[in-house]
Amino acid sequence: MLAGGALVALGLVLSAPAVRAHGDVQPQPVDTTGLDALGDDWRGENPYRGNPKAIAIGDSGYNQNCARCHGLQLISGGLAPDLRYLDKGQEGDTWFQERVRHGAIINGVTKMPAFEGTLSQEALWAIRSYIESKHED
Ligand code: HEC
Repeated sequence: MLAGGALVALGLVLSAPAVRAHGDVQPQPVDTTGLDALGDDWRGENPYRGNPKAIAIGDSGYNQNCARCHGLQLISGGLAPDLRYLDKGQEGDTWFQERVRHGAIINGVTKMPAFEGTLSQEALWAIRSYIESKHED
């Protein structure tokens, strides 16, 4: 009986990190050194579109913060939308901004966390630049 109890306890210990891995994973900081600072007011449109430095920073920022749901290199496994098909230009920027700032809470369930306040505006537009650089129709 003692062994059984120990196993249950072990199971609880082992399952705790697994639960966290799917839930609230800490956002990874993104180093945006070299990009123009944008201040507090959100731009309506990506100020870094086509900027190679922003694309490189966004590539790593995406892989650290978004890929676990949206897929490595933007290739979604179906858990979340495939961002290669997000509209280009201003239209895509508007929807991107809405989702990354506020996340997606559907029927009270957080499908995607809000990133405003945890990732900077610079980091998020760099990620948008990376996504747009891989756009597919
Ligand atoms: C915990 C999983 C998760 C993480 C992490 C995540 N997302 Fe999402 N994201 C989702 C889901 C699920 C949806 C779809 C929500 C819905 O049903 O409308 C979504 C939707 C989106 C959309 C709208 C796409 C569309 O076609 O409507 C964008 C843009 C987006 N995410 C960008 C990002 C970016 C950028 C990051 C990283 C900074 C990120 N997401 C991190 C799960 C995630």
